Amino acid sequence: MDLDFLTEEVKKLARQTGEFLKKERLSFDRSRVEQKAAHDYVSYVDKTSEKHIVERLHELLPEAGFIAEEGSGSLEEQEYCWVVDPLDGTSNYIHDCMPYCVSIALRNREEILLGVVYECGREELFWANKDSRAYLNGKEIYVSDQSVLDQSFIELGFPYKAENYRSFALGLIQDLYGHVGGLRLMGAAAAEICYIAAGRFEARVEAFIGPWDIAAGYIILKQAGGKMTGFDGNPDCLGAKEVFASNGKVHEDLLKVLQRHKKLLKNE
Ligand code: IPD
Repeated sequence: MDLDFLTEEVKKLARQTGEFLKKERLSFDRSRVEQKAAHDYVSYVDKTSEKHIVERLHELLPEAGFIAEEGSGSLEEQEYCWVVDPLDGTSNYIHDCMPYCVSIALRNREEILLGVVYECGREELFWANKDSRAYLNGKEIYVSDQSVLDQSFIELGFPYKAENYRSFALGLIQDLYGHVGGLRLMGAAAAEICYIAAGRFEARVEAFIGPWDIAAGYIILKQAGGKMTGFDGNPDCLGAKEVFASNGKVHEDLLKVLQRHKKLLKNE
């Protein structure tokens, strides 16, 4: 397998798809948004974008399967698997807010081989593969050196299924608010993980996340010097729901905070 060739093709595909998302946004029809579950939305743009991505990725590597947010392809069995979020930050997109992005990763069993995230608003292409460093628009990126939690800029993700996560989220905010450099809730997990890789944030926490939200970010963050684990500290977290990403330097301190609140989670 020529990983560099595949990476280049996926970079082109992510950028093209991002341009399509931006163009569609200009005439976006909000009446065509569907609810997958309470407060969890999908639009015709997500679906069209996924169809296009899946067709092209299938041409590139016919033997690979798919784990894609809007349901294309089958999950298990294949040695290689594309993990795709055709539009991460759907709610931001629907409301004409940023960020929103395209996220594509190639996985070989439990190893991510390559990851590409294209954030449409700032036209930022993040990528890495297992043999490369991490890049943003052609420049190498690194996580920040910040190791003090009190100075750290922390991103939170709130799962749409509020009743299971409310106590956890409120407890966490109560602990962190006033004791970190800043808290943000930006609404596009894949882009936010890349922001840690680029040194903008120190960490991101979410208690219920999909594999398509984290797969590309996982390798980009790793190759930029960062770390992703479950709330139990286990780096084997690609199938986990509770996922914590950081610059690596605040990981242990924030993990202690998470573990204090973990018992408040009502997971399915
Ligand atoms: C969502 C976003 C959001 C995160 C949710 C995801 P989607 O993805 O990444 O930031 O908090 O858990 O589901 O639905 O916009 O692709």
